[in-house]
Amino acid sequence: MEYKQLVAQALHEVLKDQLELNEISHLLEKPKMAEHGDLAFPAFQLAKILRKSPAQIAADLENKVSSPIIEKAESVGPYLNFFLKKDQVSRQILNKILEEKDDYGSSDMGKGQNVPIDMSSPNIAKPMSMGHLRSTVIGNALSNILRKMGYNPIRINYLGDWGTQFGKLISAYKKWGNEEEVRANPIKELLRLYVTFHEEAEKHPELEDEGRAWFKKLEDGNEEALALWNWFRKESLAEFQKVYDRLNINFDSYNGEAFYNDKMDSVVSLLDNKNLLKLNQGAHIVDLEKYDLNPALIKKTDGATLYITRDLAAALYRKDTYNFSQALYVVGQEQANHFKQLKAVLSEMGYDWAENIHHIPFGLITKDGKKLSTRKGKVVLLEEVLNEASKLALNQIEAKNPNLDDKEVVAEQVGVGAVIFHDLKNDRLNNFDFTIEEVVQFEGETGPYVQYTRARALSILKKAEKSTFSSSENYSLRDDYSWEVLKLIQEFPDTLHRAYRQYEPSIIAKHAIHLAQAFNKFYANIRVLDEHAEKEARLALVFAVTELLKQDLTILGVESPDQM
Ligand code: ARG
Repeated sequence: MEYKQLVAQALHEVLKDQLELNEISHLLEKPKMAEHGDLAFPAFQLAKILRKSPAQIAADLENKVSSPIIEKAESVGPYLNFFLKKDQVSRQILNKILEEKDDYGSSDMGKGQNVPIDMSSPNIAKPMSMGHLRSTVIGNALSNILRKMGYNPIRINYLGDWGTQFGKLISAYKKWGNEEEVRANPIKELLRLYVTFHEEAEKHPELEDEGRAWFKKLEDGNEEALALWNWFRKESLAEFQKVYDRLNINFDSYNGEAFYNDKMDSVVSLLDNKNLLKLNQGAHIVDLEKYDLNPALIKKTDGATLYITRDLAAALYRKDTYNFSQALYVVGQEQANHFKQLKAVLSEMGYDWAENIHHIPFGLITKDGKKLSTRKGKVVLLEEVLNEASKLALNQIEAKNPNLDDKEVVAEQVGVGAVIFHDLKNDRLNNFDFTIEEVVQFEGETGPYVQYTRARALSILKKAEKSTFSSSENYSLRDDYSWEVLKLIQEFPDTLHRAYRQYEPSIIAKHAIHLAQAFNKFYANIRVLDEHAEKEARLALVFAVTELLKQDLTILGVESPDQM
């Protein structure tokens, strides 16, 4: 059991008549400074019940609370600070993680529950943007967190593979494109055609009509149009797949916008049957005034359906197919309104599960504080970012460890891992600047730093010729450096739970950084390999750190090279 719970129980023995056990455990906090002990109990709430000053209450409690894991309880003002018996607690924690291994921190709270996660969802025939990268890695980390909590996450890549842009693209391809070039460099070439179309259309507006006509043909199932669309989709997806492969990310479904083509009519008639559609200047809308939202535009005057109509169809389909307990949409903050509307329309339709739909927004990646723009061909190609990161990692490895085996493989794990980690270490809603040189650093709060720390810990075990550990009564540690590491190990299950509740992978990334930092301090101050009564326990601690850093990194979708 976690030590917080044990201390809560000890307090509860004394405070049975005043507070519930879980109230006590909620009140227990982690002191900011080590000299205030390991846990602090604030007496303010008791003061109201007992009509005494908090300081008096804390002082009174000092000698009354006892437990085998409590070394001493000391009152400081309104707080009762607990110091734990390090040797006892360390033995418990180390044995627990050594026994549970990869399962350490897992729970079954989500057992049997499906959770579709709408993630990545780039647009066909356009480059994958940094925003799509964010959605991909955040979605992946959330799905790993959910899995640890026992849920069954379903990763859905809701590809943007339908829309008027395909009409323009077909028209542009027929005018200025050729097969070899698309095959050789699909996304670049399709983007070029798309940009050319827009440039030309400014001079010759009649091109727009041509584009529209091609889209109409596509919608009507014209064979040539469909074949071209299919081909563009296939080529783009293959290109995206290269990035997904490098990120080590896969999907359970690629049902994109086009998948819902034959499901749109039924959504519109469903809305109609429920009397929710209103005619507004020829367009069909759902009024959302009572939600303080703009009306949802369901069908345009020309009969074309819209983004939200498709998302309605998709939500209904997902509910039907997965009977989800919650559905997540990892999509940029700029679409917040869209998801509010989506939920509101579903509520209007009478679906109480609308409240289980959660938009998980995130901030922008910027360059020198400014938004990266996709227009004017100024795109940042994700593949090039990953190439560059990998190259920088290789340079560092050449400098640090020139004789390393499989340098290229490790450099890829470090470079790509650095990009992912950098994305995930910030609170997801924050905007952040992206400078590749900063991202791929072996020092500071970076992915490579965490990976490097783990590789170093492994090399210590190698020197000690120790690679497996089983439970033992000897794993008692008493020094403060070990203690800081142990506390972080023991916090992990709680941390994971918090990351789940807040849908916030950065909580895991911060745990990894703190654990790596605490470990490095420990290693700088404690001579692990020296003969000492605690050597066994120290090595077990090193091992536990390698295991837990790997867990943190794995959850984030970052690899853990054993050497680097
Ligand atoms: N393809 C869209 C874009 O790039 C994102 C789709 C998000 N998912 C959704 N269900 N609307 O903006």
